[in-house]
Amino acid sequence: MRSGQKIYRAAPADGIAFVTGASSGIGRATTLELVRRGYRVAVTARRAEALETLAAAAPEQIFAFPGDVTNGSQMGGIVFRIEKELGPIALAFLNAGVFFPAERIGFDAAVIAHTHAVNIGGTVNCLAPVLGAMLTRGRGQIAINASLAGYNGLPGGLAYGSSKAALIHMAESLRLTYGERGLTFQVLCHGFVRTAMTDQEKEFAMPLRIEPEAAAKIICNGFERGGFEIAFPWQLATLSKFLKFLPYPLRFRVIAAALRNARRPESDHSADAESN
Ligand SMILES: NC(=O)c1ccc[n+]([C@@H]2O[C@H](COP(=O)([O-])OP(=O)(O)OC[C@H]3O[C@@H](n4cnc5c(N)ncnc54)[C@H](OP(=O)(O)O)[C@@H]3O)[C@@H](O)[C@H]2O)c1
Repeated sequence: MRSGQKIYRAAPADGIAFVTGASSGIGRATTLELVRRGYRVAVTARRAEALETLAAAAPEQIFAFPGDVTNGSQMGGIVFRIEKELGPIALAFLNAGVFFPAERIGFDAAVIAHTHAVNIGGTVNCLAPVLGAMLTRGRGQIAINASLAGYNGLPGGLAYGSSKAALIHMAESLRLTYGERGLTFQVLCHGFVRTAMTDQEKEFAMPLRIEPEAAAKIICNGFERGGFEIAFPWQLATLSKFLKFLPYPLRFRVIAAALRNARRPESDHSADAESN
């Protein structure tokens, strides 16, 4: 974007919001927050029933388009149908993603490939049709949900962390490639949110974890501001960025020590098991 050029920020009057990974967690909560802010929202994920339940919460404003983001032609068809049936997509929140704690057990090529297929490939499959339509109109806002885990290599980050690093790179490149054509690109780099994804994590403490509803408010405020990065909580975002400036030997030592401290005692794991 040339300096002085106004950043495009989507508004409900401009068209539909499109949210991927809306059947649970952050996608679901963000859909409901967008509805509260006046949007009509087209939602996708594989679990059709969960999407229908979500749509039933605001039948005039939420529209379910079940699908698998790893299927490129299906995502192309869904984006085409949304625009035909509901109108132009003004805001796309590409949020669908997976995380498998089992990646810590070893170097599992299948887990890495699947994680990349959903997190990177799935985002690309949605980006392609959305970007095409927005470029034709010369207007649109696209936000990609990466993670603070994408900033630095982490023990066990072989699949998830590397996929999120790729998404950060992708968002930066999109901004630099198409940012002068009326489009706004954003990347979400956030910390822990209480969802099915983080509920799987038993081994490490998750400092400053927040509820999805609170995350959704911060995320939608970020959409409205239109800045490139939506990063929270500030404490973890600042720490993650600071670590990147350290020379590798020091960075590796600090990360290893921090994660040793974050490891929860075995007794906590069994307490979780009992409460579940
Ligand atoms: N929770 C956190 O602390 C945290 C932190 C940083 C970033 N994030 C990111 O936030 C995003 C949402 O995660 P969440 O925490 O809300 O977890 P979640 O509740 O497990 O939500 C993941 C969503 O992705 C969808 N999804 C997974 N595979 C899919 C596929 N092949 N096709 C279509 N949709 C698919 C799931 O729907 P279906 O199963 O119905 O397909 C679900 O709606 C992810 O990208 C995650 O990496 C989360």
